[in-house]
Amino acid sequence: MVTQDVATDAQVTPEAILAVATGFMAAKHLFVASEIGLFSALGDGPLPLDELAKRTGVPRASVRILADAMAALGFVEREGDRYRNQPVSQVYLSGQTPADLRPGLRVFDRVSYPTWMRLEEAIRTRQGVRGELSPEQNEIRCRGIEAITAGAAHALAQSYDFAHHRRILDLGGGLGFFLRVLTQHYPELEAALFELPAVAAIARQALAGTPEGERVAVVEGDFFRDPIPPGHDAVLLANVIHLFSPEHNRELLSRIRAGVASGTALLLVDFWTDPSHTQPVFAALMAGEWLNVTGEADCYSVEEVGDWLGHTGWAMDVHQPLAGAAGLIAARARAG
Ligand SMILES: C[S@@+](CC[C@H](N)C(=O)[O-])C[C@H]1O[C@@H](n2cnc3c(N)ncnc32)[C@H](O)[C@@H]1O
Repeated sequence: MVTQDVATDAQVTPEAILAVATGFMAAKHLFVASEIGLFSALGDGPLPLDELAKRTGVPRASVRILADAMAALGFVEREGDRYRNQPVSQVYLSGQTPADLRPGLRVFDRVSYPTWMRLEEAIRTRQGVRGELSPEQNEIRCRGIEAITAGAAHALAQSYDFAHHRRILDLGGGLGFFLRVLTQHYPELEAALFELPAVAAIARQALAGTPEGERVAVVEGDFFRDPIPPGHDAVLLANVIHLFSPEHNRELLSRIRAGVASGTALLLVDFWTDPSHTQPVFAALMAGEWLNVTGEADCYSVEEVGDWLGHTGWAMDVHQPLAGAAGLIAARARAG
């Protein structure tokens, strides 16, 4: 019988299944290690277990479990009872560099993780299961997204020439991180952030007091209902398309096109996939995360987006990688 043959085939082992099935344990260990400050405690150099327990305020026996799990996963190195950060943790999790990914881990832990308990419901019903976020959760969410997309924001500023543009509009721009990075690189650029009221309120606070933030106008609104603010020659839509269905995305692209002059640049930053939606893996997995949020989300391929652009008054110029799994699709508003 076929099933028995497969089960007894020495070449087929269950390790791949078990590795994925326990993936949530790896993630949780990582979140807790970051939250108790394990990587920041090791930021100044290696520490013995006793000192690590003292610095993190966690019982020695349990900090050892966490530290060993981190060693098993390759985030710290263990020599005897001393632990040191591996380079990846030193750069992204110690808090000692500007590339601080700890808020990204916090949003996965505090906002995404509880929601993933209801993935099956989202998959079966195509209803968003995350629900309303408290102001505190919204702040964690916005800060986390900022940390996760920071690499793409810097890569966009470095790889796309904004010198031809005067005014940029960031639709669904979160707390304005992309605009802060872009206006830092291009001091002549005028910038406006368009966001839903709850996020716009946090964005105003986040931008106030930063030199680039003072130059970003915050406009409240819903891009499906309210007019797209006019007078911009570049429009950025970063990590927004994946939240919506193809129908809603075409509607949004049409609305943006109707609100801008011919020649306006449209910059779509997202985790674009190959035509099969299976690569990059990060995007294929994040599709579940986004589905939990809106119930209509998905990851989309470059080809799909190119097709939508062609039917909504845009001409696609280029697709290029930015950072990690993130990429840029740039288009121009066609005449007429
Ligand atoms: C995943 S976040 C991306 C934030 C930012 N663009 C970035 O890449 O870091 C999506 C953003 O779109 C905003 N958004 C969703 N629906 C919107 C709507 N109908 N009108 C305006 N903004 C919206 C959300 O509030 C959220 O901040």
